[in-house]
Amino acid sequence: MAEKKRIVSGMRPTGALHLGNLHGALANWINMQDDYDCFFFIADWHALTSDYEDPGNIAGFSQDMMTDWLGAGLNPEKSTLFVQSAVKAHAELFLLLAMITPVPWLERNPTYKEQIEALNNKDLSTFGFLGYPVLQAADIIIYRANGVPVGIDQAPHIEITREIARRFNYLYGKVFPEPETILTETSKILGLDRRKMSKSYNNAIFLSESPEDIRKKTAQMITDPQRIRKTDPGDPDVCNVFTFHRFYSPAGTVAEIDAACRKAEIGCVECKKKMADYLVGYLAPIREKIQYFRQNRGMVLDIIENGNKKASIEAETTMARVREALKI
Ligand code: TRP
Ligand code: SF4
Repeated sequence: MAEKKRIVSGMRPTGALHLGNLHGALANWINMQDDYDCFFFIADWHALTSDYEDPGNIAGFSQDMMTDWLGAGLNPEKSTLFVQSAVKAHAELFLLLAMITPVPWLERNPTYKEQIEALNNKDLSTFGFLGYPVLQAADIIIYRANGVPVGIDQAPHIEITREIARRFNYLYGKVFPEPETILTETSKILGLDRRKMSKSYNNAIFLSESPEDIRKKTAQMITDPQRIRKTDPGDPDVCNVFTFHRFYSPAGTVAEIDAACRKAEIGCVECKKKMADYLVGYLAPIREKIQYFRQNRGMVLDIIENGNKKASIEAETTMARVREALKI
């Protein structure tokens, strides 16, 4: 059998995960576990690039996120699951890559200016924040990855990663493959208020949400904004509740609701209740597994420690070649 291609991807620690995280990234990672040699990690140093003034509880958030990863189906027997800050070699490679990365590449990075504007309550005029993509490049190429599954928002960072890898290889001899971007479709699941689902917008449904809270939250969801009265025909194509049906309800139900909504034969209250039933069913086994790992925190810590060890061994193998190439 041909050797599996290696992929690397990371998430900043945000604590408990929601449906947007699941369908935007995690579900895709879970699906890739059999076909690729997977390295998935929690990017806790990256969290510090924007949250350095108030690091809060990054370690706690990392553990909570790993718990949700495991509950949703990432499997430590298949994938290497670890925490960035535990593998110090990322920092060493980051430093070495910084020597060869032209500053204009970083200043041109579209996410750099966007983020500085979007997070205007934070002072992001730091060296660390400018260097965000250099650290990300180190995260990826230290495992000699062939591909990186990410959403479109991260594509510029993978482009910079490729450029940095190419420059290193050109200057010192070929050590790194140039990793491909494996584009993940961005999640079509919106929050309860139809904005992007986000913990900070308070519009999220979490993977560990109780059936009771799922029902309460779905009852609050904004539907087709043009549909005022139950007698008005609705348009499922613009309704976020219908998008949820597509994800969680059987095909027959989806088709029935599509037709009934357009003819005003179903009200939104009933439609939401139906959807909530299927969502509760969908999340039940995930929630159960999350609860199990929450009650067995020692297991989560062991899984992280094992993953950290496996990742460190791989990272050190690469670093030996890097030091040799640089004669340092
Ligand atoms: N920047 C990524 C994000 O915000 C997280 C990340 C850090 C990452 N290092 C990575 C993703 C390496 C892929 C590969 O989502
Ligand atoms: Fe949306 Fe369902 Fe209401 Fe139609 S009936 S607008 S699909 S919630």
